[in-house]
Amino acid sequence: MRDVKKRLGIIGFGNMGSSIAFGARSLFEVSVFDKDKQKLVKQANNRGLKTEMLATDLINSSDVIILAVKPQDFDILLNEIKPFIQGKLILSIAAGITTGYIEMILKEARVVRAMPNIAVKISAAETSLAKGKYAKEEDLNFAKELFGLLGKVWVVKEEMIDSATAISGSGPAYIFYDMEINKLDSSKIKIERKNEYIQRLKQAALDVGFGPKMALDLAINTIASSIQLLVQTGSSPMELRKMITSAGGTTEAALEVLSRNGSWSEAALAAKKRAQELSRKE
Ligand SMILES: NC(=O)c1ccc[n+]([C@@H]2O[C@H](COP(=O)([O-])OP(=O)(O)OC[C@H]3O[C@@H](n4cnc5c(N)ncnc54)[C@H](OP(=O)(O)O)[C@@H]3O)[C@@H](O)[C@H]2O)c1
Repeated sequence: MRDVKKRLGIIGFGNMGSSIAFGARSLFEVSVFDKDKQKLVKQANNRGLKTEMLATDLINSSDVIILAVKPQDFDILLNEIKPFIQGKLILSIAAGITTGYIEMILKEARVVRAMPNIAVKISAAETSLAKGKYAKEEDLNFAKELFGLLGKVWVVKEEMIDSATAISGSGPAYIFYDMEINKLDSSKIKIERKNEYIQRLKQAALDVGFGPKMALDLAINTIASSIQLLVQTGSSPMELRKMITSAGGTTEAALEVLSRNGSWSEAALAAKKRAQELSRKE
């Protein structure tokens, strides 16, 4: 049975961390921490979220810690929290950082790795989950429950997380980019084009290693939630694409291929390759 008292502490109140916080607070006690204190006051406190001004205070008052900072900020963060995380479940959403790497630094911590996507903003995310060596079945169940509240969940082998990053993580950007260059908005997306997007993304998912059923599932959900995101947030394809693209990241690698008229399969393979290059293992 779900433990209603479970307290979630989120470190990194950016695109993903803030969306998870607002989406999860209906069922969990949520508190957030970010090194940008102004952001915490303006965007979290003022919107009714509990905030902590120190990472250690957040950890002490939480059972589950979600690490939602960029991969390049990870080492500093892991070393900062290392002395305080005993007995806590660690959920990491960072692209390319393996459970083994986190376990190596945090010494046998219970870690679950999650790869959600930007549709977490409207609680329509697709999240792939992989359990670390020391996490228990109940930890994975907790992650399923949390990310289930925020959209659809798949449990995958950890080696498939880079492929998930390329399809459900970066995939929305392939759609937004296509809409940008064809000057489309969500009201102009006809069923034929949606079906074409599904076929292109399904092929890309097959090419990065998913089986036919999951490839189709991922493609249908990614297309549907990306279009829903445009409608519900009122953001333009370009604005949403920028939210998914970080310098040197997987989506940027894919978009570079698309800008040279590459296919979505080629773009996804480039995103997966970039995820593997960025990958930090034990
Ligand atoms: N965006 C996506 O579509 C997506 C999808 C799946 C997974 N992810 C993963 O989600 C993670 C977060 O991505 P994002 O797009 O949400 O990034 P983001 O918008 O840059 O948010 C990260 C936040 O963490 C803060 N931060 C950095 N170091 C910190 C520290 N030591 N302690 C506390 N806060 C710290 C950053 O502050 P500053 O800005 O001041 O550095 C920023 O406010 C990444 O690891 C990414 O791989 C992203």
